Amino acid sequence: MAKADIEVQQPMHMHPEDFEEEDPEEVLDESADPLEESGHTVDSSDDEIDESVAEDMARFEESFVGIGKRYRLINRIGEGTFSTVYKAEDLEYNNYDNRWDVDERERRKWSSPSGRKRGSRRPHYVAIKKIYVTSSPIRIFNELELLRDLKNGDSVCPLITAFRHQDQVVAILPYYHHHDFRDYYRDMTISEMRLYMKSLFTALRAVHQNKILHRDVKPTNFLYNPQHSRGVLVDFGLAEREGTDWHKCVCTESLEERRYQVAHSVYMQNQQAGHQTTSYPKNDTRNSRRANRAGTRGFRAPEVLLKCTQQNTSIDMWSAGVILLTLLTRRFPFFHSADDIDALLEITTIFGRKKMRETAFLHGQVFETNVPSYSEHGHTLEKIILWCTGRTSSDKGAPKKELSDEEKEAVAFLYRLLECDSAKRITADEALHHPFITKSYEENEADQDMVDLVAA
Ligand SMILES: Nc1ncnc2c1ncn2[C@@H]1O[C@H](COP(=O)(O)OP(=O)(O)O)[C@@H](O)[C@H]1O
Ligand SMILES: [Mg+2]
Repeated sequence: MAKADIEVQQPMHMHPEDFEEEDPEEVLDESADPLEESGHTVDSSDDEIDESVAEDMARFEESFVGIGKRYRLINRIGEGTFSTVYKAEDLEYNNYDNRWDVDERERRKWSSPSGRKRGSRRPHYVAIKKIYVTSSPIRIFNELELLRDLKNGDSVCPLITAFRHQDQVVAILPYYHHHDFRDYYRDMTISEMRLYMKSLFTALRAVHQNKILHRDVKPTNFLYNPQHSRGVLVDFGLAEREGTDWHKCVCTESLEERRYQVAHSVYMQNQQAGHQTTSYPKNDTRNSRRANRAGTRGFRAPEVLLKCTQQNTSIDMWSAGVILLTLLTRRFPFFHSADDIDALLEITTIFGRKKMRETAFLHGQVFETNVPSYSEHGHTLEKIILWCTGRTSSDKGAPKKELSDEEKEAVAFLYRLLECDSAKRITADEALHHPFITKSYEENEADQDMVDLVAA
């Protein structure tokens, strides 16, 4: 009985009337801490299961009627903000068409017919994502629908199928062997960073070509295997189609229009009335500005923090920039803010007040701070990397330490990602053509030549 892949094998019974209106404030203020997700990988210790995990799995099998017949639960591999993920063996693998299985496809390409037969008896693994029942139906539906739309790329985790039992929904995904970011981010060479970023941009290009914003790009949502230099983007729980809930933001208007709007703002009226620049109107009758701010603290682009109401796929490129900054500085998490204001100030520390005023102005906002320690022009990324990697000295006579040429190339690229003006930020497709990334092809060819020489 062959069945098409990525098809809901037992249709989920979801009807529009199931969708309850969510509290809009909750939807708009999705916030996760970068350290909240365990993101840990237990590939090497599948046999060592904690007692509490075993109990949790038994409870799940008991409550989700029938799941045990289809899948043998092996271990709990992740606990995110919105779900628990288990590794499981797919017991009915051979009854279905499994075009999603990249590893099997690769293996078949290279193995003999007898090897293929033997291979079909190998265990096949899946990841079962148990979405917390507190997630709204509309959000669960959104995640599954976007995953299904993105099913054809190898760099985005496809949806194999999904099941619902009462209020519990589970998504069945291919299982990806990957390493915990915390195990390798301190030791990556620049060449390895090129490969990591190339893999991430390949995934983002596929997502962005479909006009989808991932919204939560961060290491725990990019499952990377350093040995194969291959990564897969997961977790479309906060993703959305570009244009959803867009309202005009002045960032899409001309400079004149923007100037006009700021000139007629409450802030300007206050200033003209002789109030201090940092004063607030006593009776502010304006509606508060609302925009989708879903994402993870420390990875949000400035326009998200500034509540731009026309956010686009470039927000993911900023988050990718934060990952590269993390790799270059060897600091994780690099940003660690308590809230959005804190996050804006963290960015101000690097880019300075002037850049933040300009960025705020792009979105029709006014940026003011009375904290004296923020400098007007901020610091260069070169300096920040040197600081974070202990290459600065308070001894004035000591020789000046510099970044290596490769690091300088990385920094030039990083400036294109951490570009505060989203309209000027590099796109995923452009990033894949940037010399920092294309050099990985040259390096790969050089490696190949070495292998050929040895083989000759
Ligand atoms: N397909 C998969 N293969 C292997 N591990 C996975 C897979 N999907 C998720 N995980 C693990 O589970 C964690 C949480 O999954 P994720 O989809 O990010 O859920 P959440 O929405 O709760 O953050 C991931 O960080 C990862 O460690
Ligand atoms: Mg996640």
